[in-house]
Amino acid sequence: MDYKTRTKIAVILIEDRVAVDSDVIILGWVRTIRVSKNVAFVEVNDGSCMKNIQGVIEQPENLPVLDKITTGASVRMQGRLVASQGKGQKYEIEVKSLLLVGEADTSYPIQTKRHSFEFLREIAHLRPRTNTFGAVNRVRSKIAYAIHKFYQDKGFYYIHTPLISASDCEGAGDLFHITTFDLDNIPRKDGQIDWHEDFFGDETYLTVSGQLEGELLATALGDIYTFGPTFRAENSNTSRHASEFWMIEPEMAWAELDDNMDLAEEFLKYLFRFALEECADDMEFFGRWVDKELHRTLEGVITAEFERCSYTEAITLLEKAKQKFEFPVKWGVDMQSEHERYLTEKIFKKPVILYDYPEEIKSFYMRVNDDGRTVRAMDVLVPKVGEIIGGSQREERYDVLKARMEKKGIKNLDNYYWYLDIRRWGSVPHAGFGLGFDRALMYITGMANIRDVTPFPRVPNWAKF
Ligand code: 4AD
Ligand code: MG
Repeated sequence: MDYKTRTKIAVILIEDRVAVDSDVIILGWVRTIRVSKNVAFVEVNDGSCMKNIQGVIEQPENLPVLDKITTGASVRMQGRLVASQGKGQKYEIEVKSLLLVGEADTSYPIQTKRHSFEFLREIAHLRPRTNTFGAVNRVRSKIAYAIHKFYQDKGFYYIHTPLISASDCEGAGDLFHITTFDLDNIPRKDGQIDWHEDFFGDETYLTVSGQLEGELLATALGDIYTFGPTFRAENSNTSRHASEFWMIEPEMAWAELDDNMDLAEEFLKYLFRFALEECADDMEFFGRWVDKELHRTLEGVITAEFERCSYTEAITLLEKAKQKFEFPVKWGVDMQSEHERYLTEKIFKKPVILYDYPEEIKSFYMRVNDDGRTVRAMDVLVPKVGEIIGGSQREERYDVLKARMEKKGIKNLDNYYWYLDIRRWGSVPHAGFGLGFDRALMYITGMANIRDVTPFPRVPNWAKF
């Protein structure tokens, strides 16, 4: 069969690039079929956009194959494009030929009724064929493009950092080991695992962040960004945590914390605007079926100035709040999601950038403030999702950095000589952050669970498909 001459539904219904009366070939999956005595209607979706195109078949009794064309079947439909009489669609197809390509019997799990997201997670191999997951995956693709466009237009270079790493950037120890050891027979020396015997001759992990290597490139190329998968073995079964997620990490040489905040704010606004303008049809679906407030929220964020508030001020505000928190607040505690959400949803009612966190609770690489007890960290918090960005100005002073790494008790400090080396020669102030791609998509689509914005989520006890 000649598949190349087909027309994608988006070209007809979204881009409006096909003239009425043209002969078109549609290849797709049947969403619904209605057959009556004199006429039959087949609605086909090909994944190129949210909309289905309707095929109209006169004299259905002449087309016995209709009996086998059911929801879920794949078909080739050929006919004349005409203006539609029906409501809600601009064009339809007067079908001249309809071929069944792949049957779907009644055991096909996605019938026309609405299914719960929980159920659809169990059939993640088929859920891309639903409206919701078609839209999620299309928006995901467009936003990935927008990310590259944003940074490339600004002159940032896209760099690739390794996925296999011998360091722990966040120092949280949430690492997945990589090994080729025979697990029944792990070599030991003096009672300890002998990593020198392992594949890389060292203890290695899946990376939690590309930042450390990103800094090496930024202090040579100026402005860079990474965009790739990262891995965390946190055993947190929440709607916002995944064990494998994608992160965008820009890093700028010759930059301080304010520059970092400006970039983060501009970047988020760019992505939200891009989604509204370039994914209008899919976004309208999310606004109608997933979150009625979605457009108001996103438009509000695009026009609002993000609140900037120091950690210390935020703690004072939380202490004064009437709210009873599960985790009590006082200066020095790591903020819990309930605190973050209270700040962004109840107090400021818009995105907030918190900065200057206590040194004790933040990773080794953040620049120490003159007060000695806070570091130049920043987190961007947004309503509903909470933390969406984490970043900082980096410690560029060799002695201060080394002392702080020692104080933090970093394992295998010798392994980080290269990270310290860029502070030995030609050190410069620099700053960067990480945006969780999947969390950004949650915010953009209004989807409430990270498992539903990633095609094949990895979370504790779940690595199917
Ligand atoms: O705050 P995090 O841990 O920061 C870093 O990794 C820095 N090295 C980034 C940098 O400065 N270059 O993670 C950054 C973001 C978070 O704000 C969050 O959006 C996302 O990554 N994130 C997760 N997303 C999904 N599941 C998880 N388990 C996540 N952990 C972090
Ligand atoms: Mg963080």
